[in-house]
Amino acid sequence: MKHIIVESLYKIYSGIVETVALENINEKFEKGEVVAIAGPSGSGKTSLLTCLGGVLRPTSGKILVNGEDITKLSDDELVTYRRDKVGLIYQDFNLINQFTIYENVALPLLIANKKSAFIKERVDLLLESLDITRYKKTYPPYLSGGEQQRVAIAVALANDPQIILADEPTGNLDLESRERILNLLINKTREHQKTLIIATHDPFILKKVNRIVQLAKANGE
Ligand SMILES: Nc1ncnc2c1ncn2[C@@H]1O[C@H](COP(=O)(O)OP(=O)(O)OP(=O)(O)O)[C@@H](O)[C@H]1O
Ligand SMILES: [Mg+2]
Repeated sequence: MKHIIVESLYKIYSGIVETVALENINEKFEKGEVVAIAGPSGSGKTSLLTCLGGVLRPTSGKILVNGEDITKLSDDELVTYRRDKVGLIYQDFNLINQFTIYENVALPLLIANKKSAFIKERVDLLLESLDITRYKKTYPPYLSGGEQQRVAIAVALANDPQIILADEPTGNLDLESRERILNLLINKTREHQKTLIIATHDPFILKKVNRIVQLAKANGE
């Protein structure tokens, strides 16, 4: 069975001007697959990722995850879906500045009611694998963009999600961390049969993925 099937997906933002961000998107994603979402600024990459992650409700269309249409879920069910199935690495990190790096990474595990010994072990492992252990007690504003990005990746991976959605995840990284972190995400995905979907312009990433989904600007702009 396909992991994720997107059918006739539309996202229209209404406001003073109406913006068609996604226009009739049809895509399928398999387990173990690494897919890039490419396209110019404003073509809907972030909108698509946040719809897949259950953060944004599409205007119409279906998103089947393991056969279940997540657009039909209640708000409470969507919270559970996001918590248990999805790791979303936000373009602007979304870290909590009043919490330490350790606490930021521990938060999704606390919300999922994990035991404290498990949380400690898991957070330490994540910090180590992303090479940010030394910032454990530091607060996000004191970290560089690349360091904050690695914390955001640790937060997204905390609950060991089946679906990893990454919005420009290497934009702030130097070449060496970019290669290392991308390999970490890709290896995890392939070994554990997860699905990794990356919104990116980065030619280095585009070379490494199984497949590229190209988005165009709606409204024919
Ligand atoms: N909350 C919102 N309200 C209104 N319009 C929005 C909102 N979010 C996005 N848009 C519009 O929807 C379109 C798609 O935006 P989106 O952020 O998904 O594009 P993107 O491909 O991620 O762009 P970028 O490469 O700059 O990150 C844009 O025209 C944007 O202005
Ligand atoms: Mg974006």
